[in-house]
Amino acid sequence: MPPLTAMDSLATSTARRWALCSLLCICLFSAGLLLGSRPFFFPPPPPWEWEHFSRLQQPPAPRPPPPAATAYHDHDDSTAPAPDAGPGDLASEEQEEQDEELAASAPAPAPATDGDGEGSGKCDVFDGSWVRDPARYPLYEAAECPFLSDQVTCRRNGRPDSGYEQWRWQPRGCAGATRLDGSTALEQCRNRRLVFVGDSLNRNMWESLACILYTALPDRSRARVHDISSEYKIFRAMDFNCSVEFLWSPFLVQLETKQDRTKALKLDQLPAMLQRVIGADVLVFNTGHWWTHTGKLRAWDHLERNGMLVKMEGEEAFSRALRTWARWVDQNVKQTKTRVFFRSISPQHKGANWCYNQTAPIAADGAIVPWFPKSMVSIVERSIRSMRTPATYLNITRLSELRVDAHPSVYSINRDGKPLSLEQRQQPIMYADCSHWCLPGLPDTWNVLLLASLIMR
Ligand SMILES: *[C@@H]1O[C@H](CO)[C@@H](O)[C@H](O)[C@H]1NC(C)=O
Ligand SMILES: *[C@@H]1O[C@H](CO)[C@@H](O)[C@H](O)[C@H]1NC(C)=O
Ligand SMILES: *[C@@H]1O[C@H](CO)[C@@H](O)[C@H](O)[C@H]1NC(C)=O
Repeated sequence: MPPLTAMDSLATSTARRWALCSLLCICLFSAGLLLGSRPFFFPPPPPWEWEHFSRLQQPPAPRPPPPAATAYHDHDDSTAPAPDAGPGDLASEEQEEQDEELAASAPAPAPATDGDGEGSGKCDVFDGSWVRDPARYPLYEAAECPFLSDQVTCRRNGRPDSGYEQWRWQPRGCAGATRLDGSTALEQCRNRRLVFVGDSLNRNMWESLACILYTALPDRSRARVHDISSEYKIFRAMDFNCSVEFLWSPFLVQLETKQDRTKALKLDQLPAMLQRVIGADVLVFNTGHWWTHTGKLRAWDHLERNGMLVKMEGEEAFSRALRTWARWVDQNVKQTKTRVFFRSISPQHKGANWCYNQTAPIAADGAIVPWFPKSMVSIVERSIRSMRTPATYLNITRLSELRVDAHPSVYSINRDGKPLSLEQRQQPIMYADCSHWCLPGLPDTWNVLLLASLIMR
């Protein structure tokens, strides 16, 4: 199957061919203005044209400010000692051991629960089952959301079945409090800035929320998608002063290309561009898949801490990186202003639960053989427990594990960013994508649960 690494670099590879037809688009755009009939402002653009259409819509590109000169450094406590740094010169190593102990004794992270359920505390929105609900789902049609990327528009790529779009997550005993309609979502986003930070699975989630909001707009011409770079995207609903952003940072910690072109993963440092998200109203982080890549797919050549090469297992590195992230949140996020979420690991369906040809979810009590080490999940949960700024854990791993039917499989794109050819579709072992999720589809539910959790504060 195409590795995530390759998928993630696709965004840039397709840019060139869009540039070619931009002239044509300018003409179309002017024609649309002349006609002035907003609902038919444009015929649904062919899939490959949307991205540069959205670029056209942009006002003169407001370049983001260049990243601050210095990256956040986890051990750079010299100027402002971390509130939890005990006796001034506590070595970082000891500090980390302390954190570890703290983590071990802390109570479990509070999952976002549904306050509206009978007897609050009893209702866990992440525990439940999938029910078919074609009256309410999908929340939008793919054709209505022209900025959906080729990677995830399964129907447009030829997927013949559509049942996978019609499932609603039914939390056990939560009295329907997790139903969502687009206008409620828009109101929730009013005067707010939501930022997703993470890998392409969080981009999947960003696209989903942008579509939910966009299709609910009374006037869709009052929305913009800014592709500032392949690593930074913004959706804006202008009449609602609502913005939903995506910042690509698949490890959360910094991956740095050295002068000799080797890549160092700095376990104690976050990318400088993360400064940009400080002050947002809602932050949704994730990381996971990239840590499990091995061999040629592994993105780093070596690991670094305190500016020195270190050797450790992937899981230990993952754990250290999450602690760096947790401390960054503790030190930079104002609890009164910002609500922090961590989205749990999104399951891939390989091996025994291969996604190819699947058209129905696994029954709630069905057998699931998770592809990822369970220990990764506990590392995440432990890191969140140890935070002073509580992050809400969006515990979507299990409910997503059941959705073996919801991946693009062979209705995705190849390394060149083009929908798979018939020939390629017949080689699912090579090409099936069982990591990302079709849209409309499962990530819509993640967003329903995210927005529900925001209300339940
Ligand atoms: C996440 O959900 C799973 C399955 O419902 C559950 O076993 C696990 O304890 C939950 N984790 C947390 C931290 O709530
Ligand atoms: C618009 O939203 C931002 C948050 O993204 C907020 O800081 C600002 O105050 C809002 N503007 C108005 C006029 O409410
Ligand atoms: C997948 O589905 C197609 C069409 O229904 C069928 O021809 C093919 O044999 C199936 N492949 C597998 C591996 O199940």
